[in-house]
Amino acid sequence: MEKILITGGLGFIGSHTVVELQNQGYEVLIIDNLSNSSLDVLKGIEKITGICPSFENIDLRNKEAVAGFFKAHNTIDGIIHFAASKAVGESVLNPLHYYENNVSALVNVLQEVLQKKNPVHFIFSSSCTVYGQADTMPIKENAPVKMADSPYGNTKQIGEEILKDLCKVKPTMNSILLRYFNPIGAHPSTNIGELPLGKPQNLVPFITQTAAGLYEKVTVFGNDYPTIDGTCVRDYIDVVDLAKAHVAALNRLLHQKNESNYEVYNLGSGTGSSVLEVIQSFERVSGESLTYIIGARRAGDVTAAYADTALANEKLNWQTKVSLDTSVLNAWNWEKKIRGI
Ligand code: WQD
Repeated sequence: MEKILITGGLGFIGSHTVVELQNQGYEVLIIDNLSNSSLDVLKGIEKITGICPSFENIDLRNKEAVAGFFKAHNTIDGIIHFAASKAVGESVLNPLHYYENNVSALVNVLQEVLQKKNPVHFIFSSSCTVYGQADTMPIKENAPVKMADSPYGNTKQIGEEILKDLCKVKPTMNSILLRYFNPIGAHPSTNIGELPLGKPQNLVPFITQTAAGLYEKVTVFGNDYPTIDGTCVRDYIDVVDLAKAHVAALNRLLHQKNESNYEVYNLGSGTGSSVLEVIQSFERVSGESLTYIIGARRAGDVTAAYADTALANEKLNWQTKVSLDTSVLNAWNWEKKIRGI
């Protein structure tokens, strides 16, 4: 049974990917420092798959701890690196935390990984943020990477560059970079989902927490953009679809199907949805009426971002299957469960 290391495996996308890996018969080891997750997620994973993955509480910024882990586990067949901080606004206020947690920690992992004798199969969690406001829609992987407008986005660009430079000189280093658009939803079993630690930055958790009564209303950040209804357009991708894409990418590397040792794929639905369309989706599937107001634009927001998914569809033999409505309903069911509604 192939052994896969998932860093940040108790996080939102990491935990859903662990489930899909276990469903495919992989043995999973999780490293997480619990900074943005909880041990309850392990129980949730086990409730779904019947298998409790092995877990070690390790902070990847601790070089010695990372070296100790890889010394003790020298038969790892693949690595999916999720562990990173991801709040755009927080990164502006606390950039050093982001460079340490998203860049230095990545270097610590890669330095250990490169000691291994056998080929390395490495999947890196990247983001559509690297495109900034792309010039054309849908966005292709060869769209120019623009100057990042936040330290968070910069750490993703730096991570991509580190891997590109490494793969140039280490032919045994095989990597696939996955640029996520906007991950939403929750596992349909409601055993795992997006953990509500602190005030949510993202739209869908803010909608569900407002509907659950944690906030009075949702503020729509601007309705004067040049879009279908004036609100920003994004490509919302269901977290289970996203998790399945990681398994497809890992299989591509493990079965040597990759055409180069550095590949990049957009992971999105290929469809853009406006903020108001997401709110209408929530009201349609939940039967709840959501209180929202139109407020000022949010600094750093791009008008529109949605993916050209042709490359991932073809090379990973993968496409999204979960609709926006189903994904929003799963998010709402998860919210109701954790709030006891
Ligand atoms: C979506 C839209 C907001 C909250 C971020 C990261 C990106 C990726 C996905 C990691 C925007 C609007 C939001 C609210 C609103 N993460 N909005 N009211 O900013 O597109 O992307 O998450 O890879 O890297 O940048 O996602 O959910 O914050 O916002 O009107 O209360 O919803 O203006 O148009 P975003 P988001």
